[in-house]
Amino acid sequence: MEPSVEANGRIARISAHLFPPNLQMVDGSALRRADCRAKGGAPGFKVAILGAAGGIGQPLAMLMKMNPLVSVLHLYDVVNAPGVTADISHMDTGAVVRGFLGQPQLESALAGIDLVIIPAGVPRKPGMTRDDLFNINAGIVRTLCEGIAKACPKAIVNLISNPVNSTVPIAAEVFKKAGTYDPKRLLGVTMLDVVRANTFIAEVLGLDPREVDVPVVGGHAGVTILPLLSQVKPPCSFSKEETEYLTNRIQNGGTEVVEAKAGAGSATLSMAYAAVKFADACLRGLRGDAGVVECAFVASEVTELPFFATKVRLGRNGADEIYQLGPLNEYERIGLEKAKRELAASIQKGVSFIKK
Ligand SMILES: NC(=O)c1ccc[n+]([C@@H]2O[C@H](COP(=O)([O-])OP(=O)(O)OC[C@H]3O[C@@H](n4cnc5c(N)ncnc54)[C@H](O)[C@@H]3O)[C@@H](O)[C@H]2O)c1
Repeated sequence: MEPSVEANGRIARISAHLFPPNLQMVDGSALRRADCRAKGGAPGFKVAILGAAGGIGQPLAMLMKMNPLVSVLHLYDVVNAPGVTADISHMDTGAVVRGFLGQPQLESALAGIDLVIIPAGVPRKPGMTRDDLFNINAGIVRTLCEGIAKACPKAIVNLISNPVNSTVPIAAEVFKKAGTYDPKRLLGVTMLDVVRANTFIAEVLGLDPREVDVPVVGGHAGVTILPLLSQVKPPCSFSKEETEYLTNRIQNGGTEVVEAKAGAGSATLSMAYAAVKFADACLRGLRGDAGVVECAFVASEVTELPFFATKVRLGRNGADEIYQLGPLNEYERIGLEKAKRELAASIQKGVSFIKK
């Protein structure tokens, strides 16, 4: 039986909703998409993922579609966005999913968005450092942040693209140039270092990782990743060997995955998990929940450097409060000096990329 005029109208609306005009399918398969939601259900936040078709982007999109705080999910990439969008949109959760492909659709992807998560860029291969990625990813982050400055200047930005120690300063410079910079709203995602630290320490202590809370400060590369083992909760103590083993494993967790994947990329699944844990905390802060505290790489006055990762309280404006480092032991004080030296150079590299 042919669909009625009214049904045809509904089908057209569903199709137009899922894909912007130049992404719409032309084979009349919209009827088969009738199970996709045409309207937002629960009230919630609008979230965009830039780089949504990548190794991190895809599981991140799936997990954000499962997040009850999200009402609208925009998936943007320069490749494969329609496929990932169609796939994710069939999940029977509340968020409406829309796909956006290529730079001409960047501003539509960002219009009205509350939280932008950026995992766009190339990942590390064996033998590469995060700094080796600099030139490619710096350009990608600049373009995406120019789009944010135009289309959703008040959005909270969660930046995942490496090297985070340089891409966050790049984003800050782009926003400053555009006159939209609000340091509270720009957060470099270092959550994976915390997730790894919780896991590795739980293994040594024989605890459930969910019970462990490790502050990881500094930055997100090698020695700039500084786990504060003297401040682990629940309180515990480590021998010198344990401290060195754990610090080294946390600092090189990314390399462990890059080498195990042997050319097939870097951490994607644990990163998507960590990104969602962090994004969820940002959304709870935006909603006004009290006491939401996580580590992030932000504009900071905790040290003499302009950016530094510490615990921050997430609130209605993003990083509403930045916590001090707390008491450090001798091992951590030495680590902090090393971390600051490397961080200073990475921050400068990011700033110069935009200013040159
Ligand atoms: N912060 C962290 O803890 C952490 C951890 C792991 C990886 N990373 C970084 O995350 C980034 C992504 O890693 P991945 O494994 O998902 O890589 P990937 O290559 O699998 O995916 C990257 C995606 O970005 C897309 N992309 C490229 N240029 C784009 C542009 N201009 N606009 C929008 N999308 C664009 C690609 O098409 C691809 O789909 C890398 O920079 C990686 O180093 C960060």
